Amino acid sequence: MDRIAITGGVRLEGVIPISGAKNSAIKLMVASLLTDQPLRLTNMPRLADTRFLARLLQRLGVQVEEREGADGPETVLTTPEIVSAIAPYDLVRQMRASFNVLGPLLARTGQAKVSLPGGCAIGARPVDLHLMALEALGARIDLNEGYVYAQAPRGLKGAEIAFPSVSVGATEHALLSAVLARGESVISNAAREPEIVDLAQCLRKMGARIEGAGSPVIRVVGVDRLTGAEHAVVPDRIEAGTYALAAAMAGGEVKLTRTRPDAIEALLLKMEEAGVGVERWDDAVTIKRNGARLRGVEIATDPFPGFATDLQAQFMALMTLADGESVIRETIFENRFMHAPELTRLGADISVSGGEARVRGVDRLAGAPVMATDLRASVSLVIAALAARGETVVNRVYHLDRGFERLEEKLSACGAQVRRIRAGHDDGVEAD
Ligand code: EPZ
Repeated sequence: MDRIAITGGVRLEGVIPISGAKNSAIKLMVASLLTDQPLRLTNMPRLADTRFLARLLQRLGVQVEEREGADGPETVLTTPEIVSAIAPYDLVRQMRASFNVLGPLLARTGQAKVSLPGGCAIGARPVDLHLMALEALGARIDLNEGYVYAQAPRGLKGAEIAFPSVSVGATEHALLSAVLARGESVISNAAREPEIVDLAQCLRKMGARIEGAGSPVIRVVGVDRLTGAEHAVVPDRIEAGTYALAAAMAGGEVKLTRTRPDAIEALLLKMEEAGVGVERWDDAVTIKRNGARLRGVEIATDPFPGFATDLQAQFMALMTLADGESVIRETIFENRFMHAPELTRLGADISVSGGEARVRGVDRLAGAPVMATDLRASVSLVIAALAARGETVVNRVYHLDRGFERLEEKLSACGAQVRRIRAGHDDGVEAD
């Protein structure tokens, strides 16, 4: 298994272009199931997760063509017909978002059999809200031997879907299902993440009638059929936030381009409170830090526009070297502090109790071998390593490859000493 070795203590100077958002791209790819015409997605990130999903979609009948367009990577997805309405455990287990094929399969064929995704490292992550939305739309749902069997022989029917709590995935699933349902649907307590707005914009280009995406109430009037479209994937706000924190941790001056600072405003405000310099542009943000110590600040994760749970681990890394104590509350997932013990291996002083972590800033971190546990946790170790003395080796880099495109290349371009140790090259480091 590949590892990444980082030698800390180098200031970062330069420009990092931000890629298309993983968490938008995978839902947009699923939308291709809703039409027999080509859906052309530009600004596509090339990631392990998009490759996983392409494999599942191909099994269902989607033709997937990846190519280099005038403005970077793009993917064209065409589904002349659904050849199978079954999403097997092996493929859904690898990536939870695959579960969202259920609604579109049901809308297009009247039936589907999709494996339950199961829990994952950051929490139990049930799908009850997804199923509630589909049942409201008239689907008959049966659970058997780890699979959801769904039927709607006469098609889905518009409905009121009032979510008891906010879920990004369930809101997207409701949208993907309601666009081809008969009549009007009203989704209330909807998630408001930029990825929801992106999905709604793409579906509208395909002919869907949707209003209110980005607000807590989304209205959808079902149409008989959707068409092909061309859509550019929204910039990855989590990637942008991650590199903003990397620059703040290492010190120096880094401009993040092809991004939208308003999508990470909650993070930027906290970074400024901690003492990091932030300059906002329409489609870029510059992060500056001259070497002065940072201040510890409190954060609590929340649905958008609050502080993103997907940036919590990276923010904790920054706080390990801030003066005083910072308190980090995780309110979205019940088990999302697995990076804390790994950061402690680098010299951080962190105590975790329930959903709260207290980080007492230390004078310095020192490199060590560490283990990536999930995507965002692993990149928090990279951030910490950028400011640690000596070399840190991050094991289980496949987690990083799920969601960060060309990470070593982007950081190295700003002067960071980061290299990938390919599996099979011993290089004197213990294998995973
Ligand atoms: C999306 O996951 C993202 N994944 C996650 O990013 C992100 O952390 C999360 O939203 C929150 O922002 C993708 O977009 C692919 P939720 P999702 O449904 O949709 C509970 C990353 O690192 N819940 O908003 O699965 C759930 O357990 C990933 O890129 C139910 O109880 O998140 C959680 O506590 C990790 N029942 C809360 O809601 C349900 O049916 C929010 O989850 C669904 C969710």
